[in-house]
Amino acid sequence: MPKSWTPDSWRQKPVRQLPTYPDIQALEAVETELKSFPPLVFAGEARSLKKKLADVAAGRAFLLQGGDCAESFAEFHPNTIRDTFKVLLQMAVVLTYGANCPIVKVGRLAGQFAKPRSSDTETVNGVELPSYRGDIINGFEFDEASRVPDPQRMLKGYLQAASTLNLLRAFAQGGYADLHQVHSWNMGFVASGPQGERYQEMADRIHDALAFMEACGVTSVNTPEMGRTDFYTSHEALLLPYEQSLTRVDSTSGDYYDTSAHMLWIGDRTRDPDEAHVEFLRGVANPIGVKAGPSQTADGLLKLMDTLNPKNEAGRMTVICRFGADNVEKHLPQLIRRIEREGRTVVWSCDPMHGNTIKSSTGYKTRPVDRILTEVRQFFDVHQAEGTYAGGVHFEMTGQNVTECIGGAFEVTEEGLSDRYHTACDPRLNADQALELAFLISEMIKQERSNGAAIAAAS
Ligand code: PEP
Ligand code: CO
Repeated sequence: MPKSWTPDSWRQKPVRQLPTYPDIQALEAVETELKSFPPLVFAGEARSLKKKLADVAAGRAFLLQGGDCAESFAEFHPNTIRDTFKVLLQMAVVLTYGANCPIVKVGRLAGQFAKPRSSDTETVNGVELPSYRGDIINGFEFDEASRVPDPQRMLKGYLQAASTLNLLRAFAQGGYADLHQVHSWNMGFVASGPQGERYQEMADRIHDALAFMEACGVTSVNTPEMGRTDFYTSHEALLLPYEQSLTRVDSTSGDYYDTSAHMLWIGDRTRDPDEAHVEFLRGVANPIGVKAGPSQTADGLLKLMDTLNPKNEAGRMTVICRFGADNVEKHLPQLIRRIEREGRTVVWSCDPMHGNTIKSSTGYKTRPVDRILTEVRQFFDVHQAEGTYAGGVHFEMTGQNVTECIGGAFEVTEEGLSDRYHTACDPRLNADQALELAFLISEMIKQERSNGAAIAAAS
């Protein structure tokens, strides 16, 4: 246990991005209530994810992390959860099949509500109001009452996370994720598109392989791994009163775990090692991600590792890089070299979304699919040059047929963005765009693994 850490020691540190609740007593009442609620995840599950991430760090598996930018109360619906889960399964099977590599699946789901904002206020037609900070904090509607932070929203967030997680567990373990369902995951608008056809061909081959194995006596009955999958949850640990309230001592290990999700990450705006978010997360034993944007330095990253992972435990730290296309080569090599030189173990993951946000000529916040892909490609190239593993990807995506990112095989145009632009926050990949990326990334992993094997054989 880190020295002098307590679940509330973050309160002694400078803090950014937290709302100012007008009624402190109401806030404390909600915190007390949350502390009495059941944990959403269990320490043993977080430990099993950590083990899998240790495999990713060692190049034996690949991390796929994705989901909503911000989950919303208004769009809470079983079909939305199912469709996001389904696309993640499709992406995972494309990656597993194409690259012959186990995929560790982590959703940005079941708790991804709170958002950091670049400005505390927003001005529309001369009216200035506090910024929207995610449904767990305040309302999206642009009126004074909605924008007041309301602690009751944390209770609603907890309940929505609990029922989302319940459905995800049922999908993952109850038959929906059985590999024999590989065809049925391909439905709706994706099936008729170019990626759908490509997926269908791959599913046919998987189906044949399964039939062959069944003839040999390998079935989902005697090999349960074929009939279910492990699926983990994650979100940005931004709203510290909520995270603290769900932090519990694990009776097996005596360690503290934040039971709001299996994995938590620290955003690019709140990753100062001397501030509250890092202080809170250093004391919980979950796997932790840290975003690294262009302002992250090698010294800064090392200090974060010293603070968050002093024992250098494999699987504890994932560095989620988000530099922007054409910026990767400028920033990533120095971080990799320092981490390698100091003998630290990390998972290197690529978030190609947050460094590639632009404003379209039609006024929408968007991301060009080709810039997203370019950043992923550069990430793989740098790792190949440095002799390290590109361990994972981190996407904002949805199973819905939205038009929020431009490009892709369906060629969403700047003019077409307004057709189905539904996000409350950042633009997400739709299912077809996400699948397209998965096919391309599977090629990159295959290439990387064959280079790695060649290096291993030569050494
Ligand atoms: C996010 O992941 O939604 C986010 C805000 O990212 P970042 O902290 O990298 O800006
Ligand atoms: Co975002």
